[in-house]
This record gives sequence, structure tokens and C-alpha cells, in this order.
Amino acid sequence: MSDHDSRQGHRYDSPEILDYLNRLHAGHDAGLARAFAAPEQHGIPAIQVGMSEGKLLTILLRLAGANRVVEFGTLAGYSAIRMAKALPAGGHVWSLELEEKHAAVARENIAAAGLSGLVTVLVGQALESLPKFESKGPFDAVFLDADKGRYDVYGRWAAANLRKGGLLLVDNAYYFGQLLDQSDDSAAVRRCHEEAAQAFETVCIPTPDGLILGVKR
Ligand code: SAH
Ligand code: DHB
Ligand code: MG
Repeated sequence: MSDHDSRQGHRYDSPEILDYLNRLHAGHDAGLARAFAAPEQHGIPAIQVGMSEGKLLTILLRLAGANRVVEFGTLAGYSAIRMAKALPAGGHVWSLELEEKHAAVARENIAAAGLSGLVTVLVGQALESLPKFESKGPFDAVFLDADKGRYDVYGRWAAANLRKGGLLLVDNAYYFGQLLDQSDDSAAVRRCHEEAAQAFETVCIPTPDGLILGVKR
């Protein structure tokens, strides 16, 4: 018997089931609804995490007792708001975003959600923003969701800057189905997986595009 999951290929979900469950378990308050709708409203790509992935971020950060969190890739602030909701008073999310327009929309959404005091959006290349707040670490959780071709570098930064027991979360772990392709970017995402599996206790959760969950050794 091979060691692949024998249920692979069978899916029991449907758009109706997923919609029912998203609304039941991962519903939106006004702030989340605004942030989730914002990309479409502002003509920026609607590539935020799904409702249930967002709620999973909240719950995982709460389980980890996370206080200090770093996000690579802010977009319109939806996942940052999901994570900020998990934090105790005094907790903080540093969220890194390349595009000035995305960052401006995110700051509006974070303010509308009443979370401006908990989230700092830093604009520019993620790697150039890191030195500006790195001394606030070690961190309790790092969420990778920016440019996939640098996931290897970002994952190494996370391994070096998370506390023992801290969480690594990585969206688009299947790299849109291109994980096993020949390209340089695919190879970078694979290196992220392989190095994460060494430095962390890991699983890849089968969300639509895969989500790595790692606990730092
Ligand atoms: N985490 C967000 C979605 C992020 S989409 C959410 O779920 O709500 C990916 C974001 O990464 C985009 O806004 C894109 O502009 C940003 N990005 C791409 N390359 C980047 C880089 N080098 N540094 C920082 N952000 C980057
Ligand atoms: C893209 C980026 C993401 O982080 C995502 O979850 C979906 C799509 C993109 O760049 O197209
Ligand atoms: Mg993503």
C-alpha cells in the first residue's frame, strides 16, 4: 500500500456547504466585512485569505498565546484584522506591504475595525522593512503571504526571529498548483517547505491552496 491518502481525489464539499459553514463559523462583523469587500471596491486584486482561513488564523494565534505577530503581505488588511482580533491588550501586528495603495486602504480598514493601535503597516519591500522592527522580537507568530519567490528567505527570517513554540503560517503552500514546477519561484516555495520541516514541527493543511502550520522547535 502506498502512503498517499487513500481518500485523495474525493471531495465532499460544495459551494453551498462552504458558504453555510463560512457564515456559521467564520462570520464577519462590520470591520471584517469592510476589509473583505475592500479589494473589489478599490480595484485591487481580491486575493485575501478565505473567511475560514482567516478565522483559523485568529484561533491559532489565540491558542499560541500570541502577542507579537509579523505578516508578510497586507493587501487590504483582512488577515491582519483577523490576527489582531486574537491578541491580548498590548499585543501587536507588524504587517509588511509593498504597494502604497494597498497599505493606504489597509490602514483605513484597520482604523474602521478599531484596531489602529494594534497594527502597524510598513510600506516597501518586506526585506527592507524588517530591520525597522526586528528588535521587537522574538515574535510569537509569522504569517507569510507576500511574493512567493522569496518564501525561502522569509521562512529563514521566521525561523531566526520566532520564539521556541512560535507559529509559522504560510499561505499558498501549493503555489497555485505550481509547487512541483521547474521555475525558480516554485523551487523557492519548495525550499520554504523543506527548511520549515527541519526548523519547525509542521503540517500542510489542505485549504484550497494549502497552508503550512509550523511550531518552532
Ligand atoms: N494577507 C492578505 C493578502 C496578501 S496578498 C490577506 O489575506 O488579507 C499579497 C500582498 O503582498 C499584496 O498586497 C502584494 O502587494 C504584497 N507584496 C508583494 N510583494 C511584496 C514584497 N516584496 N514585500 C511586501 N509585500 C509584497
Ligand atoms: C495571489 C496571491 C495570494 O497570496 C493569494 O492567496 C492568491 C493569489 C496572487 O498573487 O495572484
Ligand atoms: Mg495568499
